[in-house]
Amino acid sequence: MIVLGIETSCDETCAAVLEGRLNESPKLLSNIVSSSISLHAKTGGIIPEVAAREQIKFIIPCIKRALQESRSDMKNVDAIAVTYGPGLLGSLLVGVETAKTLSYIYNKPLIPINHLFGHIYANWIDKKDELEFPAIGLVVSGGHTDLILIKKHNHVRWLGGTRDDAAGEAFDKIGRLLGLPYPGGPAIEKAALSGDSKLFNFPHPLIDSDDFDFSFSGLKTAVLREVQTMEQLDNETINDICASVQQTIVDVLVRKTLNAAKKFKVKSVLLGGGVAANQKLRDELNSSLNRLNIKLFIPPKGLCTDNGAMVAAAAFYKYKSVDFRKLSANPGVYFD
Ligand code: KG4
Ligand code: ZN
Repeated sequence: MIVLGIETSCDETCAAVLEGRLNESPKLLSNIVSSSISLHAKTGGIIPEVAAREQIKFIIPCIKRALQESRSDMKNVDAIAVTYGPGLLGSLLVGVETAKTLSYIYNKPLIPINHLFGHIYANWIDKKDELEFPAIGLVVSGGHTDLILIKKHNHVRWLGGTRDDAAGEAFDKIGRLLGLPYPGGPAIEKAALSGDSKLFNFPHPLIDSDDFDFSFSGLKTAVLREVQTMEQLDNETINDICASVQQTIVDVLVRKTLNAAKKFKVKSVLLGGGVAANQKLRDELNSSLNRLNIKLFIPPKGLCTDNGAMVAAAAFYKYKSVDFRKLSANPGVYFD
């Protein structure tokens, strides 16, 4: 079965083609990501209208290239998977309406995919190692920080999430207040390489709470207060702040994930979302879970940030097609 995956929930226009069988790990044939990040860097963040307009420009060329690179065409595609939410309404609409149109014209099944599950299912692409259930999933992106318990495919329980800013949002906002380029996550990771993570002692919000909730907005305020006390902010200090911020976010994410993994006695932990590209988070989760004999699965860095491959991959395990007339974008959908 060949699946075309379309993802346009935020500032990336993505299309990918995957091949495989239902309920088995699919093979990646092509994965095209067209990012409008450089435009948003100029404004220090995403302006939804601008993002949506960029989606319109790129969606058709992106799908064409994904088909070309996979040596397929719409005739031999067996199904179209598309992100229907959560995300920015204007951006989502572009992908959803394009997918609906293709489904109508070529008479292909249309499979709506929740973006959050897409991030988790990026772990199943080109996978040789069989993933074992039960598993804890941690989705850490620009808009979400969620812990879920996955008992088996399509059997998921939400355990907790952020009460305010998401982890990626904290990276982005702190990056902006330190004068770093957008997006803040990769910029802070880079600066942190030359910094000392012990020089600033920022609060670790909710680290000891016995739930699975997160809160990162206080961290942003703590950094702002620290910066406001300084007469000038030199590069060395910025690097030290970045290292401390990164360590704080990683400490909280690792502790809560370990708590959940132990409580539910899981066999695997699955990471997904843009922040999962962070090397410190990958390394620290890996060494902590190793000690507990729990397997950690993290997609390759290029499949952590938004892409169409994760959307197509989810369709191999969540194959439930809908009539194109009945599908609409749903920016507020959560884990369903
Ligand atoms: O999953 P994603 O591409 O889009 C959303 O669904 O939100 O995640 C984007 C987020 C941004 O907040 C970005 O700063 C963060 O992921 N991010 C990182 C890294 N790469 C991207 N955060 C920390 N370290 C990174 N290397
Ligand atoms: Zn995402």
